[in-house]
Amino acid sequence: MKIAVIGAAGSIGQTLSLLLKNHLPAGSELFLYDIDPIVLGVAVDLSHIPRSVIVKGYSGDDLTSVLDGADIVLIAAGIARKLGMDRSDLFNINADIIYSLSERIANTCPKAFIGIITNPLNSTVAIVAEVFKANGVYDKKRLFGITTLDILRSETFIAELKDQDPISIRVSVIGGHSGVTILPLLSQVEGIEFTVEEVKVLIHRIQNAGTEVVEAKAGGGSATLSMGQAACRFCLSLVRAAQGEKGVIECAYVEGDGKYARFFAQSIRLSQDGVEETLDHGLLSVLEQDTLDNMLETLRQDIKMGVEFVK
Ligand code: LMR
Repeated sequence: MKIAVIGAAGSIGQTLSLLLKNHLPAGSELFLYDIDPIVLGVAVDLSHIPRSVIVKGYSGDDLTSVLDGADIVLIAAGIARKLGMDRSDLFNINADIIYSLSERIANTCPKAFIGIITNPLNSTVAIVAEVFKANGVYDKKRLFGITTLDILRSETFIAELKDQDPISIRVSVIGGHSGVTILPLLSQVEGIEFTVEEVKVLIHRIQNAGTEVVEAKAGGGSATLSMGQAACRFCLSLVRAAQGEKGVIECAYVEGDGKYARFFAQSIRLSQDGVEETLDHGLLSVLEQDTLDNMLETLRQDIKMGVEFVK
């Protein structure tokens, strides 16, 4: 497998690259790209780790060597939010970056699985989709907004609250990846009952967990280590599916049946072709249904911003 990480010199990119160097199947190739030439050093640094995963670093204007033949492209490029900002405040700068990267990917490796990390995710995924569409190469089954960090946080916070091992907890998070659009389906966590008060506290914490990190870093940026971990987990699931493993299930922000919004984070089953099936979330509690109904306007607006940016 050839995996390209774009924005690999940033804090998420470096964390993700380190994890991938250690966890990709032996024989994989990891191509790192950043506009910051320090990425060349990051690649040399990682190449000293004794695992059979080749690491190469690239900078400059030409991404052809990085993208050519890539099976998976992960985009972490762009700026992160600072204290007092919402993810949507990143739109003006990051939309341009995502637009120009999508053009190059559409022209060089349109069949790759594309995983987007760059915020505001609810909008950047729509930008990639529209650019691919304009180039006549869009395949909605191959484009993913990586929302895995919402899953990791849900698993962790539930485990903390209920004094359990987080490894044993499975939770779906649907909607999008910002504030009110993040909806963990706590009513469906197997083997755990929550009081109404616990549900409210948990949903609020999970929805605001990105801000919790931004505030704790006090001007030093947003989540990088946990985001790197989340993106690595999602990428490894893509790799397993691409290599023919059956029944790989993750949550991701994808273009599904449009029941709620054109793009929607949901459980998906992956195959060698990408999204094999979007899985129904089942019955929601009254509170979850209300939260879902209340998020849709925001989510649709976020998507519209991305679509209109390209148009
Ligand atoms: C997160 O959820 O931590 C990331 O989307 C970064 C952010 O700005 O919150």
